[in-house]
Amino acid sequence: MNVARLHRPNARDPGVLTGFAGALVPLDLLPRVPNRSEALRSDVARKRRLGPLGSRPTSCTLHSRRCRGVVLGCALLVLMAIGLGCSRETSRRTNGVTPPASAPDNARWLLEGTNDTRFIRVAQHLRGFDMAMVETGYRYTELYWAGQDRNWDYAKYQVEKIRTAVRNGIERRPARAKSAQMLESALPGVEEALRAKDPVRFADRFAALTATCNACHHAERVPFVHVQTPATRMSPVGPHPVPRGSP
Ligand code: HEC
Repeated sequence: MNVARLHRPNARDPGVLTGFAGALVPLDLLPRVPNRSEALRSDVARKRRLGPLGSRPTSCTLHSRRCRGVVLGCALLVLMAIGLGCSRETSRRTNGVTPPASAPDNARWLLEGTNDTRFIRVAQHLRGFDMAMVETGYRYTELYWAGQDRNWDYAKYQVEKIRTAVRNGIERRPARAKSAQMLESALPGVEEALRAKDPVRFADRFAALTATCNACHHAERVPFVHVQTPATRMSPVGPHPVPRGSP
């Protein structure tokens, strides 16, 4: 196919921009290059149109050099504006934002830096599986005393919260997920005893839960965290008062 590179403007009329640099197009799609006499004739016509000082043409079409210049100038401005916006966004991502002067000093740790570094900081404060276990330890103790008090609703509430704590802990530390599955048989056993409101069955299922806690501690290489049946109460929550007048 007959092709030509478009990086050179038309030699006869340097003002004619024929295309993007280096693009290859079929010759028959190019504007036809006028021969010498045609060019002379059009040059005379152009001078007549513009007058001796080359004053501005009366109508502005896309083919006139001036208008093309304006269009290109506008395009350049738009590109510069987009570039500026992008670089601002990149700098916000890489350098982060400085907190406003009005921000209290004790909030700066959370406001400074990029969003990524701020999230990492929050994650560090939220901690890992250990905090899930501190909470689980507390709720395990409360569960025990709720069972002793026959406060079945409070006991049920604690089982649900143990589930939530472990689930969130696994989300933060997915490596613990496989071992944590052992709770999935121990907790339903406790719930069954709670539904039956059966203190004997509760004692049995609670012992099974304790064994599960320790089995996981062995599996996860923290056997020194040895869980045993609570001996002291930790919270002020006591037996649910029996409403006056009830049997
Ligand atoms: C995934 C298996 C797993 C199960 C199930 C499990 N634990 Fe843990 N527990 C751990 C791990 C792992 C640690 C150590 C956490 C760390 O090093 O970040 C831990 C630590 C603890 C701690 C010490 C927390 C601290 O930092 O002071 C307590 C208390 C605890 N567990 C109680 C329990 C109780 C009670 C149960 C049962 C209801 C239980 N755990 C069930 C894995 C488990």
